[in-house]
Amino acid sequence: MTTTGSWRGLVARLAADGMLAAGWRPVFEGLPRAGFLPDVIWQHRVRTGDVEAVERAREPERWRAAAESDDPLVTQWDDGGHQGLEQGRVASSSASAPSVVAAMLADLDVYPGQRVLEVGTGTGWNAGLLHRFGAGAVTTVEVDRALADAARAALERQSLGAVTVVCGDGFQGHPAGAPYDRVIATCGVHTIPGAWLEQCRPGGRIVVPWGTRFTRTEATVALTVAADGRTASGMLTALVQFMSLRAQRQDLPAYGDYVTAESREKAERGTTVLTLGATLAGEWDISRFVLGLLVPDCAVVFDAPQDGRQPVWLCSLGGDRSWACVLFREDEKSSTVYQYGGRRLWDEAEAAHAWWDGQGRPGLGRLGLTVDGHGRQHIWVDTPDHVVGLPSAV
Ligand SMILES: C[S@@+](CC[C@H](N)C(=O)[O-])C[C@H]1O[C@@H](n2cnc3c(N)ncnc32)[C@H](O)[C@@H]1O
Repeated sequence: MTTTGSWRGLVARLAADGMLAAGWRPVFEGLPRAGFLPDVIWQHRVRTGDVEAVERAREPERWRAAAESDDPLVTQWDDGGHQGLEQGRVASSSASAPSVVAAMLADLDVYPGQRVLEVGTGTGWNAGLLHRFGAGAVTTVEVDRALADAARAALERQSLGAVTVVCGDGFQGHPAGAPYDRVIATCGVHTIPGAWLEQCRPGGRIVVPWGTRFTRTEATVALTVAADGRTASGMLTALVQFMSLRAQRQDLPAYGDYVTAESREKAERGTTVLTLGATLAGEWDISRFVLGLLVPDCAVVFDAPQDGRQPVWLCSLGGDRSWACVLFREDEKSSTVYQYGGRRLWDEAEAAHAWWDGQGRPGLGRLGLTVDGHGRQHIWVDTPDHVVGLPSAV
């Protein structure tokens, strides 16, 4: 694979933006993403939300431009069950945006000679970068057999056959290669598997996109394993959106399962002065992510706007089927709220927002996470002893 000017240009921009940690620029320059991509990719323009298929044989220039862009590229739909150029239902593998890959590798703070476990091989590009950087041994686990085989072949083509590609469930890590100095997951999780903690040495680092079920935006967390190996703690560093670890995938709640005719009749009506903009508006807004940390076992679902109002639903993910619906209208001083069930979900969201506001709206760089090997997870502000997030929030 030759390096073209536009790939070098992208890497130069990442360097200029401070996205590449020391030593990574020549590694990125020498290993373009194009060398790991299949012939059909779907370019996901994050800013507009557009997803477009690009076939290498029919549009080689467009294919290369996509490969050398900073967009994520979907490489598989529906766990391989989807054919053709249309979008499938669930994007199940991708080559992540180069800037996101660079930022996560910077968070990983890896040194030459260290042993690394990656969960989510995908195309194999990230594992290849780690090997080129000089990681001592790179093991990467991919749940999908076809993807694992394709990644292994791509790595071999790039003379990176020393990377160990394992087809298996990365939830279990890969005990045969442990202990690792670094664990990096390139699929999102709600609960950090105990196996990753067990297999990462004390003082080692775990970098993973982590989030609640409230929204599909995750935060990258960079955790350091404690000296006793029982817990790992670290800061949330960036908002990202990754494909979920297969076992932790979640479909959005189905409207009809929640909002029965009876519950509509019995729902309690109220008002709120909070605006959509201040609470739930943007997928990439920290306010929405933080509400997810503080309102446990809940998902937010946007409905189509009606009569100048934006209906936003909060649905309990517990068995109780509580729901709330806020009909936001930005040109009015207050919006109408309906709530039904054992939980008053909008009241919980208002209390969470008030708390966050009172704390000076802590965001990335102030919020941290501590996990243990038993699925217990706590969010904190500034220092691990200032716990705020509800353990059941994950
Ligand atoms: C965003 S892609 C990874 C991108 C990849 N690191 C690269 O460089 O191309 C996420 C990958 O995680 C894989 N995955 C999902 N659940 C998994 C699991 N339980 N174990 C291992 N891999 C998993 C998906 O099949 C998908 O290929």
